[in-house]
Amino acid sequence: MKTVLEEISVYLGDAFAAAGYDAALGKVSVSNRPDLCEFQCNGAMAGAKQYKKAPAVIANEVVAALPADNVFSKVEVVMPGFINLNVTAEYLCDYAKRMAAEKKYGCEPADPKKTVVLDYGGANVAKCLHIGHMRPAVIGEALKRLNIFFDNKVIGDAHLGDWGMPMGLVIEQIHDEFPDLCYFDPDYNGPYPEEVPFCVKDLEVYYPTASARSKEDEAFRERAHAATFRLQNGDPAYCALWKKLIDMSIADLKVGYANLNVSFDLWYGESNSQPYIEPMIADMKAKGLPYESEGALVMDVKEESDTKEIPPILLTKSDGAFLYATTDLATLAQREHDYHPDHIIYVVDKRQDMHFTQVFRCARKSGIIPETTKLTFIGNGTMNGADGKPFKTRTGGVMRLEQLVSEIREEVISKMKENHPDEPVDESVAEKIGIAALKYGDLSNQASKDYVFDIQRFSSFDGNTGPYILYTIVRIKSILQKYFDSADASDKTKVTAADRACDLLPPTDASERQLYLMLTRYNEFMQSAYEDLAPHRVCSFIFEVANRFNKFYHETHILNNEDAAVKRSYIAFILLAKEILEQAIWTLGFDAPERM
Ligand code: ARG
Repeated sequence: MKTVLEEISVYLGDAFAAAGYDAALGKVSVSNRPDLCEFQCNGAMAGAKQYKKAPAVIANEVVAALPADNVFSKVEVVMPGFINLNVTAEYLCDYAKRMAAEKKYGCEPADPKKTVVLDYGGANVAKCLHIGHMRPAVIGEALKRLNIFFDNKVIGDAHLGDWGMPMGLVIEQIHDEFPDLCYFDPDYNGPYPEEVPFCVKDLEVYYPTASARSKEDEAFRERAHAATFRLQNGDPAYCALWKKLIDMSIADLKVGYANLNVSFDLWYGESNSQPYIEPMIADMKAKGLPYESEGALVMDVKEESDTKEIPPILLTKSDGAFLYATTDLATLAQREHDYHPDHIIYVVDKRQDMHFTQVFRCARKSGIIPETTKLTFIGNGTMNGADGKPFKTRTGGVMRLEQLVSEIREEVISKMKENHPDEPVDESVAEKIGIAALKYGDLSNQASKDYVFDIQRFSSFDGNTGPYILYTIVRIKSILQKYFDSADASDKTKVTAADRACDLLPPTDASERQLYLMLTRYNEFMQSAYEDLAPHRVCSFIFEVANRFNKFYHETHILNNEDAAVKRSYIAFILLAKEILEQAIWTLGFDAPERM
């Protein structure tokens, strides 16, 4: 289904053509002066130069050529040549009826369907999820859902950090904690045990301990280095121990991500790209691309048009060890091999911008992925504290994601108690509201911008917040519930907006009309959020709908309206609003409770 703007642009385009001008000039946009009109067309201004005529002359000719259809309630030429437009209530109602009949309320699936790989986890084995992992997870999950919503085939990959020096560090720390473990006995050849004497919480201590040690203790650093090398070269004992770390970490990370309503199709790590590294480097060498520099293998990726220095990409270190860039390149080879994706999207902290510039250029130059595969890096900004610096715990440490989720839940619980002192708090409801607070607070900001995490504001039931959006949906649900409780048997069975679309009447009041005007822009907003990978547009849409709904609700007798047909129309209308809001928040990765 075309968007409202596209539909009315067709009328204007036809009129431009009928008056002898280019139909493309008939593009209509939403008015930037809502006090004067709802839509506007500036084509006559653009055409003035081309046709060497005063814009007002063109505009008047175009307006005269508009068919006397039931679409526009106002068509006005304003100097120097703008065409101001309002649409009729009948048109809005008809459009809403057509939306209600469709499962996606007018959003058209991508054509052709694309295969999209999304890399948005980036958590590291043997380390806990901390708040730095939140933004990529939340934004990535929303982008995954937007792509699913538009019918693309999407593969979400966690791309765990599981292959570098941190692994060697943890292994050597375990060595020192449990020197008698069979993994460290040179005479032991397996089988390796099911059980290990440490748990995931221990790993989170081992890594920072080992990392600190390696900075002071040269010998320990050497050991960790050697351990990394042994692991990467397939030593059976070290691989068996490492596999334990991986399984333990993944089980724990799955819980952590699930607490945010985030999931992945693939739990691959950097290590999964290992088989692709040798052939990839060999191929690059055959093409004469890399060269040696101070013992390391590097490749130039700078371009004529660069305005800043883009250093060569490091492929292997002088000791033959692979680097972050090596595994990212080999992962591209793997993804191409497994999925032939049309598009690969990374959501990673924007401070990794240079790394991805180098990786993408190198992948293109060396033909690891075909020209037709689009590569996108979405560098997310930082979540800051009130001081404008990256958010920290009260004691100044890095906050665990778990703790953040629980703090916001506690805040929500205290607000719920304030609102309803006499009612027990439903924990599952508090959890839903907490997730909405966190995710909406994040997603309503442009991904690349830093923002300040303000727990009071994010968890407020008023303003541009997740809880406010949920509150609005719950409000609609409760009106509908009341209606259904009193409805007669045949009416009770019509539970969807599609069932009731025929009841919709053209809007008569201003607040109803304003809600109509926004709801009917659903496909326009969703399309643009999807195309520009910009979930914050979905937030803008739902916030505007919620505001307009609440105004309509306060000004309108819905359930106690004396006119039965009008009442049925309102029910159909708010049911449509509810379904659209619920679908939109699904793409953002949270959902609404039944009551709150
Ligand atoms: N594990 C990395 C880190 O902690 C992030 C990985 C992001 N994804 C990627 N394909 N490089 O910085």
